[in-house]
Parts: sequence; structure tokens; C-alpha cells
Amino acid sequence: MKILVINGPNLNMLGKRNKAIYGDKALSELDAMLKKEAQSLGVDIVSFQSNSEGKLIDFIQEHSSEADGIIINPGALTHYGLSLRDALADSELPAIEVHLSNIYAREDWRAKSVISPIARGQISGLGWQGYLAALAALVGKLKGKSRE
Ligand code: DQA
Repeated sequence: MKILVINGPNLNMLGKRNKAIYGDKALSELDAMLKKEAQSLGVDIVSFQSNSEGKLIDFIQEHSSEADGIIINPGALTHYGLSLRDALADSELPAIEVHLSNIYAREDWRAKSVISPIARGQISGLGWQGYLAALAALVGKLKGKSRE
């Protein structure tokens, strides 16, 4: 089983960027943690980050046929990235949307996600633990442990 872990614009700056909101872990630490957890669950992870919507779409188009699910933090594209949303929908893979911060407790414009209508679910505000929760949920669903 293979899961794509995709991080959008500015998430390469984790660990340096607004730590009070996004925490002090770097993206490389987050990736390492997810890989370790994935290994113990017996699944493979392919991670990708880009600051460009087109590159995120290229990655989804190139890798979706060999993948079983997607965990994505679209960064600010969450709020307006319609091409990214289309690419995720076209992949026909179950996708879980993750946000480190609680997007509903911040500026008004962050409270709207154009991604969530095509996602299986959304985790917002649990910090890096949200990625682990998404992995557990996705693997549970894919292995048929979940009722839905
Ligand atoms: C974010 C929330 C977005 O509003 C923001 O633009 C980000 C990160 C989060 O993880 O909390 O870049 O997706």
C-alpha cells in the first residue's frame, strides 16, 4: 500500500515559519516521523513538497496510478486552489486534508477550504499529530477496519 504525502506552498519553511502557529518541527522531521509510523503500519510513503500549484498537480498526475491514498496539506492553496482540487478529484484516490493550525480560529478567509468538498475528511488544528491521525485513518479505511 502506498500513500502520497503532499505539502503545499511555504510548508518547506516549517520550523522557521511562525512557530507559535505552526510549531517548531521542520518538514524533514515531520516526514521522518511519518515514514517511521508508516513502516510500523506496513505501508509505503512518498513525500513531496512544492511552492508551485503546477508542480503539485504534476506530482499527483504522475504518481496517483501507483498510489492508494493521499494526505495533503495544501497550505494557502486550500483557500483558492481550484486546479489542485480538480487534480485531487481526478486522481479518484481517497484524500485527507490536514492543517497544522485550526483554520476556523484564524482570519475569516482561512475558514473556507475549496479542497474539503472532495476530501474524505479534514484534520485541522492538531499540529504535526494531525498527519499521524490522517495516516492512521487512511490506512484503517484502506484496510477495511473502518465502518465507513
Ligand atoms: C495551513 C493553513 C493555511 O491557511 C496556511 O496558508 C498554511 C498552512 C496549516 O497547516 O495550518 O500555509 O495549511
